[in-house]
Amino acid sequence: MKAVVRPNEGGRSASGRRTVLEARRVSKIYRMGEVDVVALRDVDFALRESEFHVLLGASGSGKSTLMSILGGLDRPTSGQVFFRDRDLSGANDRVLKEFHRDHVGFVLQFYTLMPNLTARENVALATEISRDPLQPDEALELMGMGDRMNRFPSQLSGGEQQRVAIARAIAKRPEVLLCDEPTGALDYRSGILVLNAIERAGLALGTTTVVITHNAQVSEMADRIVTLVDGPIAQDQINETRRPGVEPADA
Ligand SMILES: Nc1ncnc2c1ncn2[C@@H]1O[C@H](COP(=O)(O)OP(=O)(O)O)[C@@H](O)[C@H]1O
Ligand SMILES: [Mg+2]
Repeated sequence: MKAVVRPNEGGRSASGRRTVLEARRVSKIYRMGEVDVVALRDVDFALRESEFHVLLGASGSGKSTLMSILGGLDRPTSGQVFFRDRDLSGANDRVLKEFHRDHVGFVLQFYTLMPNLTARENVALATEISRDPLQPDEALELMGMGDRMNRFPSQLSGGEQQRVAIARAIAKRPEVLLCDEPTGALDYRSGILVLNAIERAGLALGTTTVVITHNAQVSEMADRIVTLVDGPIAQDQINETRRPGVEPADA
């Protein structure tokens, strides 16, 4: 049974989990010469502690814009963003940058690994600036990459490179992991491996996770499925039948 719930219920959700990061009536308008492009209109989106959220929506519905705003990489035109009790809306650039650095892991469709560094070195590079990081080996093992840590990116498949990129993102133990179409460049099977690795990391580290994906099966492993249409959140569903570890459909 899937229950439709309202996006905000005053800090605690039907699942009883606390809200970690929240967009309140967030709008984003890009001014393109004479034309205004409305990327987000009055979006409410609350991320609950340790939950696995899947964000769905057609191309152009504002998913990436919302991720950038939640991750402290961009600002809304109007509305507010809260990290726990902190209102980030009025924060200056330095505060926003620190929020991103200290609390947010970001994973994109393309892996942006340093080609001249091994998998382990790529992860180590990111942990140098963290206060209490995982060891690079630990992060890579969590991604199922323990036996390929000394390979260079060119010696890894696309799915493996993405798992290194995720290891890099989680190694600083972010409270929030935002993944914008992490399987967009991968075949179906590699995509499932990547999604399973993200889920495993979330469970091991208690990370609050958002994944944008077109992989329909991913909804089965989500705690919460949020659909973005032009304008406010169209649907926010709790998945009562969460099934960890999605198997490929053809297995
Ligand atoms: N930097 C930008 N300048 C102007 N328009 C933008 C910019 N970024 C996104 N948009 C527009 O905002 C809308 C939402 O884009 P986006 O957040 O990338 O959607 P999605 O990730 O769901 O495909 C689109 O109409 C897009 O063209
Ligand atoms: Mg996008």
